[in-house]
Amino acid sequence: MKEQIEKIRQNATEEISQVNNAKELNDIRVKYLGKKGELTAVLRGMGGLSEEERPIIGSLVNIVRDELENMISEKEEFYKKEELNQKLETEKIDITLPATKVKRGSKHPLNRIIEEVEDLFVSMGYDVVDGPELETDEYCFERLNLPKGHPARDMQDSFYITPEYLLRTQTSAVQARVMMENEEKAPIRVICPGKVYRRDDDATHSHQFAQVEGLVIDKDISLADLKGTLEVFMKKMLGENTNLRFRPSYFPFTEPSYEVDVTCFKCNGKGCNLCKQTGWIELLGSGMVHPNVLKMNGYDPEKYTGFAFGTGLDRLAMFKYGIPDIRLLYQNDVRVLNQFDKMQ
Ligand code: DAH
Repeated sequence: MKEQIEKIRQNATEEISQVNNAKELNDIRVKYLGKKGELTAVLRGMGGLSEEERPIIGSLVNIVRDELENMISEKEEFYKKEELNQKLETEKIDITLPATKVKRGSKHPLNRIIEEVEDLFVSMGYDVVDGPELETDEYCFERLNLPKGHPARDMQDSFYITPEYLLRTQTSAVQARVMMENEEKAPIRVICPGKVYRRDDDATHSHQFAQVEGLVIDKDISLADLKGTLEVFMKKMLGENTNLRFRPSYFPFTEPSYEVDVTCFKCNGKGCNLCKQTGWIELLGSGMVHPNVLKMNGYDPEKYTGFAFGTGLDRLAMFKYGIPDIRLLYQNDVRVLNQFDKMQ
C-alpha cells in the first residue's frame, strides 16, 4: 500500500508540474483528491489494514494529501493572478483617447417662443392658464357669442369628434373657461398658450398649430390698455423698432375688433416679397371683450370691461427665426433643430 501511495505521489506531482491551465489543474484535483479520486480510494480501503499499519498508512496519506493540496493551490494562485493580469491588460482604459461626444438636445424653437411670451406676461402680473384641446362646441363657440349656425363659424374649419366635441380651433375657448371658473367674478389677467387644430395643410398653414390667447377683465379697461399691452408684447418679441397698426376687423367675441399688423421684420417696413410690398405683416386678432361674452360667462358688462387678443405662435417663431415653412416646426428634423443649439 505504501508503494501505491508513493506511486500516486509521484504521478500527481509530475502531472501538476506539467499542467498548462486552471482547467487541467482542476481535473488533476478531481482525479486524485476528489470523492472518487485515487488517494481518496486509498483512504477508503484502510478498513482492511491491521491495527499497526493503519496509523502509519493514515498519516502517510495525510501527508501526501496536504502536499498535493499545497502544490495545487500554489498553481491555482498563479493562474488566478495570470487571469487578473490579462483582464487588467485587456480592460485598460486609455485616458488620452478623445471622449465620445454626448450630443445635447436643444430647445424647440416653438418652446423658446412660448417661454419668452410666458416670461414677459408673468413679469406683467398675468397668470399662465391651460385648457383642454378636446373642447366642447359650447366653450369653443357658443360662449364666445358664436351660436350654432352663425356665419362666422365658417372662418375656422373644424375637426368635430362628435356633434358636441371638437378639437379646439382657437385658444379663445379658454377665455370662456377662465370667466366661468372665476366664481367671485373677480378681475382676470391671463394668457393661455396651446395647440389648436384646423383643417388646413400648406406651407403657411398646418392642421395643428399653436396660439397664445390673452384676456384682461377689470374695471375701466380701455382700448389704450390693449394697444399698450400689444405694443410691449410685439416690441419684446420682434425688436424695439417694431411698429403696430390696428385695422378694424370683425370677431364675434370682441367689439370693436382689430387685426394688428407689425412692421415687416424682413424689410423693416420698406416693402418686400414677404409683406407683399406693404411693409406690414398681419399678426394678431384683438379687441374689447364683447358685452354678450361678459354676460354669458357671468360678468356684468355694466361694471366690467376687458380686452382680448390672440396670435399664432408658429407665425411668430417663423418671423423671428426666418423659418420659411410652418411644417418644419412639426417634422422634428434634427438638421433644423440643431440650428437652435447655441441660441440663447
Ligand atoms: N381666435 C381668433 C382666431 O383664432 C384670434 C383672436 C381674435 C383672438 C380676436 C382674440 C381676439 O382673443 O380678441 O382667429
